[in-house]
Amino acid sequence: MATRQSGIRLAKRLDEVGFSDIVQIRNKVMGMRADGLKVHCLHGGEPYFETPEDIKYAAVKALVENQTHYAPSSGLLPLREVLAKKLTVKNHIQASTDEVIVTVGGSQGLYAAFQCVLDPGDDALVFSPYWTPIGDLVTGAQARPLHVPTITARRNGIHNTLEQFSTPQTRAIYYNTPQNPSGLVFNRAEAEEVAAFAIKRDLVVIADEAYEDLVYDGDHFSIASLPGMAERTITCFTLSKTYAMTGWRAGYAVAKEPFMSALRKIVLYSTNGVATFVQHAMIHALATPEAEIAARREEYRKRRDLLVHALNEAGLHCEPPAGAFYAFPNVEKINKNSRTAAQILLEKAHIATIPGSVFGAQGEGHLRFGYAITLREIEDCADALRKFLA
Ligand SMILES: Cc1ncc(COP(=O)(O)O)c(C=O)c1O
Repeated sequence: MATRQSGIRLAKRLDEVGFSDIVQIRNKVMGMRADGLKVHCLHGGEPYFETPEDIKYAAVKALVENQTHYAPSSGLLPLREVLAKKLTVKNHIQASTDEVIVTVGGSQGLYAAFQCVLDPGDDALVFSPYWTPIGDLVTGAQARPLHVPTITARRNGIHNTLEQFSTPQTRAIYYNTPQNPSGLVFNRAEAEEVAAFAIKRDLVVIADEAYEDLVYDGDHFSIASLPGMAERTITCFTLSKTYAMTGWRAGYAVAKEPFMSALRKIVLYSTNGVATFVQHAMIHALATPEAEIAARREEYRKRRDLLVHALNEAGLHCEPPAGAFYAFPNVEKINKNSRTAAQILLEKAHIATIPGSVFGAQGEGHLRFGYAITLREIEDCADALRKFLA
């Protein structure tokens, strides 16, 4: 008798989608701490400071004033006005209020962007190493990520390298600057090369500028500000990193038609927008003076310099990363396999990091150390590293 396939099964589109390795590491660290062990936590990616008080009060005020009803699913108009102005003035991306959408963190913007650009069987070029969820967002759209080694691209020319890795099915390029995990920042000339390639091959660029305010060497440059690029770029931003608002799930994206209508549908049917009182707090956060953001950047620079010095002193070669808040040293001295190296470092020195291979094959031989922690915590980690590698 022929067996009938059970009706209870998962949609195939999830077959290739992984679940974050980073969460597994976080769980292991929590277990060690619960056992009373002191762990140096450099595996995370959360600002060391709390959400500023005035932003919290803006949310409380909105709640007290009953800003608890449905807002337009694409975002409150006053917030979209603030965002359109910010994008025009700071990013040089000319945007109207209809060309911005408020999203549940940068993550929802990225999810929606890949969903509305990729069809099953399409390919997307992804500079590698890359932020792990991107691979899953591409495969979740039943498309294939094509890993473009960033270091090779820088050495051999970005345009040529993109050409070398692309296929006839290529529809999009994921362009993240400053990068997680390497801290690399693409400069304007590099953005121009990516843009020229996208225009030549008629590709969409999905830009991820989550760390736009954390550039220490050089300047942040938005690819959508280049001529001919606003029409083919969806740029995703978040308030998570700049304003220490990771748990608020506050982000936004900017794009033109036909993308904006598609983004609106995805946001409408997935979350129906961002919590109304959170949007009021976002308006307040976006009024933060640039001097305050610059002061925090200087705090991160101190952390970067301290950590990079400690890593090099311990024999783990590390160029100072130009942006974001991660260092990505070569750790082959500990072990060539980054998963083994991370395990050794965690078990022997109680230093928690993320194995480079989690960020794609090009990350192998490296570990990601997050330095968005206190100076004291970095000093303690440096001591532990010195003792371990002495
Ligand atoms: C490169 C990059 N993009 C986007 C995000 C999304 O952040 P969120 O969803 O908290 O806004 C992150 C968070 O770590 C990130 O590292």
